[in-house]
Amino acid sequence: MEKILAEYRRTLGDFEVVDIDEGRIANLRRELDVGVPIDLHWTWNYGSEVEELRSLYERGKRGQWNAETDINWSTPLPPNEWFLPKEGLQLLPTILKAGGADDATCCQAAFDEFAYTMSQLLHGEQAALQLCGQLTNACPTMDAKFYAASQVADEARHVEVIAKLLERKVGTVYPIGGVLKVLLDKLLAAPTWKTKTLGMQTLFEGMAVGIFDMIQKGSTNPLVSDIIRRVKQDEARHAAFGILTMRRTVKDATPEEMIEMEDFAYDILETLNANQQLDMLHDLGPKYGLDPDGVAQMVLQSPEWPKFNSDIFMHTVIPNLARLGLITERTESKYRARAMMFGDRFGTGIDGDVQASL
Ligand SMILES: [Fe+2]
Ligand SMILES: [Fe+2]
Repeated sequence: MEKILAEYRRTLGDFEVVDIDEGRIANLRRELDVGVPIDLHWTWNYGSEVEELRSLYERGKRGQWNAETDINWSTPLPPNEWFLPKEGLQLLPTILKAGGADDATCCQAAFDEFAYTMSQLLHGEQAALQLCGQLTNACPTMDAKFYAASQVADEARHVEVIAKLLERKVGTVYPIGGVLKVLLDKLLAAPTWKTKTLGMQTLFEGMAVGIFDMIQKGSTNPLVSDIIRRVKQDEARHAAFGILTMRRTVKDATPEEMIEMEDFAYDILETLNANQQLDMLHDLGPKYGLDPDGVAQMVLQSPEWPKFNSDIFMHTVIPNLARLGLITERTESKYRARAMMFGDRFGTGIDGDVQASL
């Protein structure tokens, strides 16, 4: 099978990157209408059939919060004050500091990169909102429909809260990255609810839990910390739905279906990783005199790269796939070669919020 975005792949040193040109990205952003074939499924069984999904739905009802009234929006978020670690978490300030830039420049770059990351999460939240609407239609049981509907409300709140954070405190929403748009469209257009669940709930929600956890652990701003803490607790329920549903799915799957799911997961994550933040570097690098290829190459050559690069994957998504039997010897070496897997295949243990939702 051909790799995703094969025509936009090239090598940078020993590494194959995916780097979409500006013109194509502009077209992708203009593609607002996406054809998504979906089979809507009725059920006449209104009682509970899948107890663990029903209790996740109950947990979701109890966990609702109001993005307008539960957040203290008067808390300031000054663009010229550090609120995330100066090094190690964000790429731009780390690289700029290593190159001798002054503290004010590094701080400004950190704020820009935060705005960029939150913008991409915002677009991802919109995709999750759309996808859960599809799941409400397509899932077979009433328990799954109830759960998916409650997630629709969660995702609407996430879109609301991140959009308000960017609008009120940051002042910028960066447009969606090209690779992200292609991958999200792929999930939205996936033919079955099982593939959608694997793609969105297991892969993307797993990545989101990791990103939110890292921001939460690093943030010293009370507004950012409070928003991320609330969103992450919801995301943990969503990741839990992915785990619970996929456990049943893999139990019933044929060997061919297992191979198909394993390859699907690898292809999506490999493409995401192959961008190596080039989409962000094209948008923000020039402002700081940084050449995107130069930065990517520097990162790829660093001895800490395998550990640094794999952190986000090893947080939740890779251990979950390994537990589901969706990373076997066939793909493990490929994940490791591309620094998406490092150390123990089950990472440092399951995320606390996800565990609490299971
Ligand atoms: Fe969300
Ligand atoms: Fe979510």
